[in-house]
Amino acid sequence: PVVGVPVPHESAFQHVTGTALYTDDLVYRTKDVLHAYPVQVMRARGRITALRTEPALAVPGVVRVLTGADVPGVNDAGMKHDEPLFPDEVMFHGHAVAWVLGETLEAARLGAAAVEVELEELPALVTLEEAIAAGSYHGARPVMETGDVEAGFADSAHVFTGEFRFSGQEHFYLETHASLAQIDENGQVFIQSSTQHPSETQEIVAHVLGVPSHEVTVQCLRMGGGFGGKEMQPHGFAAVAALGAKLTGRPVRFRFNRTQDMTMSGKRHGFHATWRIGFDADGRIQALDATLTADGGWSLDLSEPVLARALCHIDNTYWIPNARVAGRIARTNTVSNTAFRGFGGPQGMLVIEDIMGRCAPRLGLDPMELRERNFYRPGQGQTTPYGQPVTQPERISTVWRQVKENAGIADRRREIAAFNAAHPHTKRALALTGIKFGISFNLTAFNQGGALVLIYKDGSVLINHGGTEMGQGLHTKMMQVAATTLGIPLHRVRLAPTRTDKVPNTSATAASSGADLNGGAIKNACEQLRERLLRVAATRLGANASDVRIVEGVARALGSDEELDWDDLVRTAYFQRVQLSAAGFYRTEGLHWDAKSFRGSPFKYFAYGAAATEVEVDGFTGAYRIRRVDIVHDVGDSLSPMIDIGQIEGGFVQGAGWLTLEDLRWDTGTGPHRGRLLTQAASTYKLPSFSEMPEEFNVTLLRNAGEEGAVYGSKAVGEPPLMLAFSVREALRQAAAAFGPDGTVVELASPATPEAVYWAVEAARRGE
Ligand code: MTE
Ligand code: HPA
Repeated sequence: PVVGVPVPHESAFQHVTGTALYTDDLVYRTKDVLHAYPVQVMRARGRITALRTEPALAVPGVVRVLTGADVPGVNDAGMKHDEPLFPDEVMFHGHAVAWVLGETLEAARLGAAAVEVELEELPALVTLEEAIAAGSYHGARPVMETGDVEAGFADSAHVFTGEFRFSGQEHFYLETHASLAQIDENGQVFIQSSTQHPSETQEIVAHVLGVPSHEVTVQCLRMGGGFGGKEMQPHGFAAVAALGAKLTGRPVRFRFNRTQDMTMSGKRHGFHATWRIGFDADGRIQALDATLTADGGWSLDLSEPVLARALCHIDNTYWIPNARVAGRIARTNTVSNTAFRGFGGPQGMLVIEDIMGRCAPRLGLDPMELRERNFYRPGQGQTTPYGQPVTQPERISTVWRQVKENAGIADRRREIAAFNAAHPHTKRALALTGIKFGISFNLTAFNQGGALVLIYKDGSVLINHGGTEMGQGLHTKMMQVAATTLGIPLHRVRLAPTRTDKVPNTSATAASSGADLNGGAIKNACEQLRERLLRVAATRLGANASDVRIVEGVARALGSDEELDWDDLVRTAYFQRVQLSAAGFYRTEGLHWDAKSFRGSPFKYFAYGAAATEVEVDGFTGAYRIRRVDIVHDVGDSLSPMIDIGQIEGGFVQGAGWLTLEDLRWDTGTGPHRGRLLTQAASTYKLPSFSEMPEEFNVTLLRNAGEEGAVYGSKAVGEPPLMLAFSVREALRQAAAAFGPDGTVVELASPATPEAVYWAVEAARRGE
């Protein structure tokens, strides 16, 4: 079987030789392209009182200025209908209110600068704190409840309260948002877009143009990273390009420069949390009462499902018998925050891990011990606070135990204690954290996938499926699934770019579910084809179809030496007029979710993992190094081990970036540029790079982990490993604490930048 074999990414060679094409590369293969450039208004909020486009039209090379008056359909880019594509009111600093089409990018840029916009400025809420103080919320206000919270607190030996404000995160995919729209030879709108959700891009474009969906085709060849940032945000931008193409009859492209991308597109939600937690005398959680507030930005976008996932993950790996967790979405005048790897899960889990890190010294317990004592336990029928039974709770302690062994925790803790005793100005610490992450979209309807598999007369196979490739290796896995199911070598399978006219009504490639959903659909299509071909082979081999196997491109009947090779088999099938194409479909069974009562079993299964991270902190500067990371992570039976290990490493580093380096700052002053994103480029927004990699990085896949009912026993891998990076933050907290007396409680800012760590060290030294 080809599944489970460590093969390189299907485009690895093109990636490293620079020959892989991305959406904007297609511009150079397209004639007469117009360039679209946004007219961004550099004020946080205001009503537009005048919009003069004539000065732009006077700029040489400017062809047209697109405004709201040009929209034939609905002037809205959101699924919630709260995102005017051409707004009357500026809602955040950098909001685009019109777009200029030019013969060259430079002409379009000069044209955009010439458009005159007059505003009646309005007060703007820039920070989450301001929105909370003003009571500015939008969308649902879910409450998740289980057990009896007040009784739980009454039974608690220790009750602590706290507050926690933590930052969002910029996606910083290498490829910024881009689309190329044209009217094809058939009068159809054809849009190539860097989108994780081609079907929804198609839907929004159709709404904006006022045409049915069958007049719009969206293709995504590949993305240079999406990370959730291209799950919903591309739609409006693609609609602008499509509108331009429709109005001019010429191809229209846009690709944001980095600053446009950072100032116009949504990010991971920063959160604010208040909490009260009760522990019994042994440190077991008795009750949790918390309120989580997500910074939604100016429109809802995906904030409601993000918040729902945050609530559904506040338990992480811990059983909380009595809980009441309320959620709300602040409406601020910033970009509209959106999906980002983990989708609220990291935020919910960060809250409980922060609580654990802050409460362990207060309880007089080692943080590792406190965490262990609270794990979900097998055989006790424990459910999550939203009522889903925790399947495989034993995996939490299994990955935990394996990480402890692999990392040699006991010995290294002794070494670290000796090191710290000898070094007053440098401290090391080693922290362990675990994760449990629910796999499936909370919204049951999204848990479906489709595929179209074609076998040509020469035996070559072309597969289409609804998922998009953003670097995560989905296409590689899908080719492995097809080759395995059909029984042929991998090189016989080719994958076509994702297109809405091949597979309709697809879900976003998101929620880590790409391989589960589309793999299920491809397997289904290939099984149909295999059944047909086995019958053909059986006749040729004079055997029963149930006795025939196709292995590595050769069909054989059990107990017979006669062989029929794949090409021959396919040709025979063709001449017998056997259908050589099949549509496949998959739906995840057994899910239910009631968003109102906030109860149900929304997840097919949970992914588990644990990480041990050792850091070293310099007491003079707060600078730190990640000395070593050990991870054991559960991907079921891996479809593609090399891809999965890459996902775990990449997810971990992206999580560490969020928690330690990446610091989004806005102008919160009262000057004219209030609300401006101050960190608009790589020069001011620090990403993890080569020099921040863990010095030793050991990733192990949990063995014998086959997942019943998922495609070839595999588990989703895309998002969960990001949250293994909590171990970095907890190690930094413990290292900072080591500068103070035993039992020092460290409250660490997030991101824990070197500056933040420095202040934590200072507080610890003062014994605060
Ligand atoms: N890996 C790479 N290289 N680039 C990406 O953009 N996105 C992540 C993850 N891994 C991403 C990535 C996110 S946010 C998700 S939801 C999953 O990949 C989506 O892919 P999958 O469902 O096929 O795992
Ligand atoms: N991740 C997790 N859950 C989701 C997502 C996602 O990107 N999108 C919708 N539900």
